[in-house]
Amino acid sequence: MTQQLGGLAPASGPGRFFHLAHLPGGQQTTVKGLGWRGCAPEGGGGGGEGPLMGDDPTRFDRSRTSGEEYHKSVLLEEVTHCLEPQEGKLYLDGTLGGGGHAEQLLRAGAKVIGLDQDPAALSFARARLGEYEENFGAIQGNFRSFGEILDTIGIRGLDGILLDLGVSSRQLENPERGFAFGSDGPLDMRMNPEADITAEDIVNSQDEEELARIFYQYGEEKASRRIAKAIVEAREKETICTTGQLAGVVERVRPRKGRIHPATRVFQALRIAVNDELRSLEAALSEVPRWLRPGGRIVVISFHSLEDRIVKTFFKRCSKPYIDRPEWPEPRPNPDYCFKLVMQKGLSPSPEEIKLNPRARSARLRVAERIAE
Ligand SMILES: C[S@@+](CC[C@H](N)C(=O)[O-])C[C@H]1O[C@@H](n2cnc3c(N)ncnc32)[C@H](O)[C@@H]1O
Repeated sequence: MTQQLGGLAPASGPGRFFHLAHLPGGQQTTVKGLGWRGCAPEGGGGGGEGPLMGDDPTRFDRSRTSGEEYHKSVLLEEVTHCLEPQEGKLYLDGTLGGGGHAEQLLRAGAKVIGLDQDPAALSFARARLGEYEENFGAIQGNFRSFGEILDTIGIRGLDGILLDLGVSSRQLENPERGFAFGSDGPLDMRMNPEADITAEDIVNSQDEEELARIFYQYGEEKASRRIAKAIVEAREKETICTTGQLAGVVERVRPRKGRIHPATRVFQALRIAVNDELRSLEAALSEVPRWLRPGGRIVVISFHSLEDRIVKTFFKRCSKPYIDRPEWPEPRPNPDYCFKLVMQKGLSPSPEEIKLNPRARSARLRVAERIAE
C-alpha cells in the first residue's frame, strides 16, 4: 500500500528538520541521521527506534552482527562498482533491508537515504549503520512513492538509486511473516505489516479465475487452474489461514517431485500480488529520470523474470535517441531518451557467490546512467 504523505512543513529549530505528517500511525519521531524527522509506525511489527534485530528487540547486539544473519547482500561488489560511491554523492537505497548495500556506499563516504516499507528492516539497518548517522537517514515508505518522499524532505537530485527487489532472508525465514511454508505460520506475506491486504484475504476472497490468473501470471505455475479450483473447494470447508494449510492444498494437486516444493510458485505469486510488486517497480522506474543527476546511475537487482523484463524494457525504451515507425518518413527524436546503458546485458552472480549464497542464483543486475538533457 502506498504511504500517504502530505501536509508537510519544516519544523522549527536548528538543522534540516522536516515533519512527515501523514505516515501511518501519524506519530512524529526523529528519523535518525541527516537531521530529518519522520514517523514511527504505530506499535507492533518490530517498528520504532529501538535497536532491533529482525522482529525481536532482545536479539540485537551490534558487537556480534555483520548484518549477514539478517540478509546476505547479493552482488555487493558489483553494486558498489556500478554506483561509484564517493564523498559528496547522495544515493537512494529504495530497498534498505539489512543495510548491506547501503553500508558499502556509506563506507566510501557517500550519503544514503534508505527506504523500506518494513519497519523491522529499518530498525535493524538504523542500529547497524548508527556510526554513519551524519550521512544516513532511514524512512519507512514504499519506493513506488520515492519522489514524493524525497520532495517532502527537501531533496532535489540524486547521484544514484538502488533497488534490490523482493524480500530479505529475515522476512522469508520468519514464520510469523507468512512468506514461506518451511514452518507453519499465518498466511500474511505483507512486507509492510500495516498494509490492508494479506495473502489470507486473497486466498479466501478472490474467485477461482482470479486466483488462477495470479498463479499463472506471477508464478508461471502450469497447474494454476487446478490449484485455484482446489483452493476454492478447500475454503468452502474451512478458511485457509496458515501457510501449512495452503501448502497442503497445493501438494494434494501437485504431489512433491524432486527438491523444489510444489507450492513454491504459488507462494511467490501470492507475495507479488499481496505487495503489488510489479506496479510498484513500474511506478518507481517512471520517477527515476526526474531524480537522477547527469552521470547518476540506477541499479536494479531483480529475482524474477517478470521484474527483469520490466527493467530491461524500461531501460531500452529510455536509451534510444530516436524512434521509428513504418508509417513515419524518417525516425523521430525519442521524448523518453535519458539513459545510456552501462551494460547491454544483465549481470548474474558468479558461481562462487551462488555457492556461498544459493538465494543469489536467480539475481539479475541491470544498470543505466542518466545523460545530460
Ligand atoms: C532483498 S531485501 C534488500 C537487502 C539489502 N539490499 C541488503 O543489502 O541488506 C529487499 C528489501 O526491500 C524491501 N522492499 C521490497 N519492496 C519494497 C517497496 N516497494 N518499497 C519499499 N521497500 C521494499 C523489503 O521489505 C526488504 O527489506
